[in-house]
Amino acid sequence: MCGIVGFNGKLQAAPILLDGLSKLEYRGYDSAGMAVRNDEGEVNVVKAKGRLKALSDKTDGGKTLPGTCGIGHTRWATHGEPSENNAHPHCSDDGNVTAVHNGIFENYQEIKEKLMKSGYTFYSQTDTECAVKLIDYYYKKYKMGPIDAIAKTMVRVRGSYALCVMFKDYPGDIFVARKESPMIVGLSEGNSYVASDVPAILKYTNKVYYIDNMEMARLGKGEVEFYNVDGEVIEKELVTIDWDAEAAEKGGYEHFMMKEIHEQPKAVKDTINSVVKDNKIDLTNLGLSDEEIKDISNIIIVACGSAYHVGVVAQYVFEDLAKIPVRVELASEFRYRKPLLDPKTLVIVVSQSGETADSLAALREAKNRGIKTLGIVNVVGSSIARDADNVFYTLAGPEIAVATTKAYSTQLIACYLLAIQFGLVRGELTAEQSINLIAELQTLPEKIERILTDKERIQWFAAKFAAAKDVFFIGRGIDYAVCLEGSLKMKEISYIHSEAYAAGELKHGTISLIEDGTLVISVLTQNALFEKTVSNMVEVKSRGAYLMGLTSYGHYQVEDTAEFTVYIPKTDEHFAASLAVIPLQLMGYYISVARGLDVDKPRNLAKSVTVE
Ligand code: AGP
Repeated sequence: MCGIVGFNGKLQAAPILLDGLSKLEYRGYDSAGMAVRNDEGEVNVVKAKGRLKALSDKTDGGKTLPGTCGIGHTRWATHGEPSENNAHPHCSDDGNVTAVHNGIFENYQEIKEKLMKSGYTFYSQTDTECAVKLIDYYYKKYKMGPIDAIAKTMVRVRGSYALCVMFKDYPGDIFVARKESPMIVGLSEGNSYVASDVPAILKYTNKVYYIDNMEMARLGKGEVEFYNVDGEVIEKELVTIDWDAEAAEKGGYEHFMMKEIHEQPKAVKDTINSVVKDNKIDLTNLGLSDEEIKDISNIIIVACGSAYHVGVVAQYVFEDLAKIPVRVELASEFRYRKPLLDPKTLVIVVSQSGETADSLAALREAKNRGIKTLGIVNVVGSSIARDADNVFYTLAGPEIAVATTKAYSTQLIACYLLAIQFGLVRGELTAEQSINLIAELQTLPEKIERILTDKERIQWFAAKFAAAKDVFFIGRGIDYAVCLEGSLKMKEISYIHSEAYAAGELKHGTISLIEDGTLVISVLTQNALFEKTVSNMVEVKSRGAYLMGLTSYGHYQVEDTAEFTVYIPKTDEHFAASLAVIPLQLMGYYISVARGLDVDKPRNLAKSVTVE
């Protein structure tokens, strides 16, 4: 979950490291550090607790760290509290080896004890320091080169890592190694870059190599060589990324989250257009044939957080349109619960980053059991995208804010498209029904746009509730699934306790939490459930709740019960989540802003959760 950037080339490294780290701060932001080698070959390390700005201020924007070769890190603490001492880079006792690390070395205690017997001392509580010193130990004891010393370490450690290492004796190079934690290498004329994620280096190059598990690389100035764990040179394919650098900038918005909320119409449209040609869905690029679709007996959707909430919506849509049994599971549960899997099951893993550790492990569990897998993934070349049998790429572009918005919206679209096509191929939908559903999908971008033009009303309402202690979201069916997402948005960026409840379930316990003035947001987009949910609104209102209704135009009777109502355009009810979620994203955003919080980087969180 930490961010890594390395640079080796003709330019000053520190400003490039700081710039790259600023694009990765979403991965972790409790401390940061850089190590830069100067022209005399000395490595200087500077670290700072807190946001990247502290490191930038401490080095005067990188000016006090001269040199053209360096590595940088922004941390999300796992082992050891956030502090300058635990911040990366970490060094061997004599400064021979300096490294930054993303991931976890699970057997670090055992390695630490072994190294202490050989005279090593430890200054931090991190697992990283142990690995750095183990590399140093092998390098000296066996008088081997950097690649061999790193390879030996890779075999000795357990866990996940993206490692970036500098050796005092090899001033012209940076060495990197990877297992389970993402790492890419980019090249431009005379310069080499390494990073945990594409946005960090997109400004400098869009030509990248993906380092795979148990692989290493040596970065010279403008050149790179790759190795397998046996130290043999291997060839890798150069991939061109078609995200532009601007997509990873704020573009005039105060926060990435607001920019990304506004990018939803385009992201949704692009994702639809990626598989819809002449009013038909074409899944050829995913590699899913009609025979395979017909052969599926049931679907298990596995994901975490908001991606899991997409799965909850998709469950209703798939079952209704394609009549396939669907189960949705949290990846962290699925991977350990020894699921009973029919050989004809399709496991769909939904993930923006494609690197979420639990989702990746669930995918691998399914694959190991011989089950067909499909990834719905945003980041091209990510681990889930590469490991899944088939991939549906969402075209959201880079998502930087920790709270997902546009990726969630495109994941919904991918699920709708799959459900329609599965329904058609399996004979549950006629060609005409499929065409009508696709036509309705194509209206969503414009409808989202329309909701966004009315955002000031939500801003006004959010300001009134910025001091709320608890918020409840209630709804039934797909509306309940949207509530889950609305509630998560509220919690993660506003730090207000909130809960999403299936409206009919409230009276089985939770209703006792409703007090005078408690804000209850009720979502009502499903006709058949409308009156039932209104009854639940009345129940909480009579216990003092302050009600906000979120419904489609035409359902004006909500105003008889709700104190404040937000209307969204009408759409086919299967797709209502795509519209209903927008005001809820805005609510979370505006409350967070009104409370003066860091919207894009909420406390304790990181964008991609690459630890269990
Ligand atoms: C949502 O706003 C969160 N940031 C989080 O729940 C996220 O959806 C989850 O961690 C899954 O991430 P992924 O899509 O990258 O796998």
